[in-house]
Amino acid sequence: MGVKRFFRILLAMWLLPVMALADDRLVRLHAPQVLIETGLLKHILPRFSLKTQVRVQVVRDGEARDATLGGSGTPLFFGLGQTWHLTVKNPDHLGSKRFSDWLGSQVGQRAITGFAPNGQALFAPPADQTVAVVDVSLDGDADIGHKVSRRACARCHAVDAATRWNSIGSTPSFAVLRSFEDWEERFSVFYILKPHGAFTQIEDVTPPFPADRPSPIVPIALTLDEVEALLAYVATMKAADLGGALVHQ
Ligand code: HEC
Repeated sequence: MGVKRFFRILLAMWLLPVMALADDRLVRLHAPQVLIETGLLKHILPRFSLKTQVRVQVVRDGEARDATLGGSGTPLFFGLGQTWHLTVKNPDHLGSKRFSDWLGSQVGQRAITGFAPNGQALFAPPADQTVAVVDVSLDGDADIGHKVSRRACARCHAVDAATRWNSIGSTPSFAVLRSFEDWEERFSVFYILKPHGAFTQIEDVTPPFPADRPSPIVPIALTLDEVEALLAYVATMKAADLGGALVHQ
């Protein structure tokens, strides 16, 4: 070690409140197990730390944390059927601020969307949508469609008044989707619109999931008849009043 470097380090140790520095350089991050299991964090965190010298420690449920990846806060990326957000406990905490800035930066976003464990990117920018048109008629059976919605879609969407509480916060309810002018088109091709493609199979329409890319969640399997029934059901729904306060349910 050079003499100059030695003195610089000595000076740094002398002058800086070492513990505070260590705190600023550590972010305790909480994320849901399902996100951890994809391996995304193992992919991006070393990149962030290398760039910033801020270490991120993933903490368990109930442990003290500086930042949380989940359903609320700043939207950062999309995948596994939802938009992922970051909340930071203390915006003045230097490490948290750098982490949050980095995730939203071009470099951070590239690290996230570049994560492709089996050659297929699992995560996309937060508001990424594709549009396509397919012919599906409205002569299906609305009652069957209602049942299909409850079975296949209510996991994430509010599909009727009774399921309004168990759907994921950022996912639009069917009533909201129904109020869009192009609702019919969206429902006709929902299975190729994000996020459904990764976990939805329509008999005789979609190719099977590739062997190395199984559905990340319990898949949705429907026939075209069921999709038509679904459309017939949605057609009978009352559109949500988007002028009112209840935009999401
Ligand atoms: C695992 C969660 C999940 C399940 C299950 C699910 N969806 Fe979705 N769906 C979402 C999310 C999240 C969005 C919002 C996507 C966005 O905003 O980009 C969405 C959006 C939609 C949209 C609007 C798409 C667009 O781009 O405008 C339609 C239509 C839709 N879903 C229909 C369905 C139907 C029909 C089912 C059941 C057969 C279903 N979804 C099951 C998560 C899910």
